Amino acid sequence: MANASASRFGQVLRRLRLVAGLSQEELAERASLSVRGISDLERGLRTSPRPETVRLLAQALDLGAGERASLIAAAHPELDVSASAPDGTSVSRPPTPIVSLRRPSLDAASLTRLVGREAELAQVSTLLRREEIRHITLTGPGGVGKTQLALATAMQLAADERFSDGIAFVELASIQDPALVASAVAATLGVKERGARPLADSLAESLRQRRLLLVLDNFEHVLPAALLVADLVVACPLLVVLATSRERLRLRGEREVHVEPLALPSPCTRTTRPPLRTWPPWPRSSSSSNGPRRQGPASP
Ligand SMILES: Nc1ncnc2c1ncn2[C@@H]1O[C@H](COP(=O)(O)OP(=O)(O)O)[C@@H](O)[C@H]1O
Ligand SMILES: [Mg+2]
Repeated sequence: MANASASRFGQVLRRLRLVAGLSQEELAERASLSVRGISDLERGLRTSPRPETVRLLAQALDLGAGERASLIAAAHPELDVSASAPDGTSVSRPPTPIVSLRRPSLDAASLTRLVGREAELAQVSTLLRREEIRHITLTGPGGVGKTQLALATAMQLAADERFSDGIAFVELASIQDPALVASAVAATLGVKERGARPLADSLAESLRQRRLLLVLDNFEHVLPAALLVADLVVACPLLVVLATSRERLRLRGEREVHVEPLALPSPCTRTTRPPLRTWPPWPRSSSSSNGPRRQGPASP
């Protein structure tokens, strides 16, 4: 059955299709999708378009970065917590808290099912409460549990004063082009593109006074966009970033928490704390040369 969130993707898709001057049949042919599928999406009868479907539609509609980000954001209503724009075209600026974490798979019940990560959860939460820490990356192989740990940590910190403006969760798995990361973050935060102004500048302006935790999930797809993270962390003194990635972002001030595979407890192998790798702490004094910049591999 259609619902408000589901129909939002439909509204955005329909508007973009009409702007492109295409019928449903023409779009279906261009995207190699069925007419019925597109019709169902536009009417909100299909609620969860697959990333591949969204990609095909964006390609067939020849979307620019901003429109593509809007379409992607509309495809993830469970992560998009801002109000729907009346025209369904872009995400409007949400009220304070700027973003709250809402994800159906992460309610109190699912948290209790998160097994064997108590030490990591406590460790990451404690680190994120420390003022000098501005950026943590959870690293580890695919499927090890980075996303679940990030979500659980974010939930745990949702009421924390340090993040009184909220928590934004940006899913980057479906984004292959690092240049689109800014658009994806902007779409989640409700920051709109303005003329020729670089989107990174608009993001920085929007976040400058915000006490926000920005969760960037699956960053390994878009590692060159680490420079955007560096710029935002420098420009926005209250912003804290929690990234998940198979590799760290190699930014100054980044703390890496390596997520180990869950194993049966053994007296021989069990450690009380997971390994923590640290890089130079965030500089407190302002200096033109000490902003976060990508560095070479960590020294041993
Ligand atoms: N601690 C945990 N307890 C229960 N299930 C978990 C836990 N960690 C991960 N999972 C499950 O394992 C799968 C992969 O976890 P995910 O967090 O997506 O891994 P990653 O982000 O490292 O690729 C998911 O289905 C997730 O629900
Ligand atoms: Mg993940």
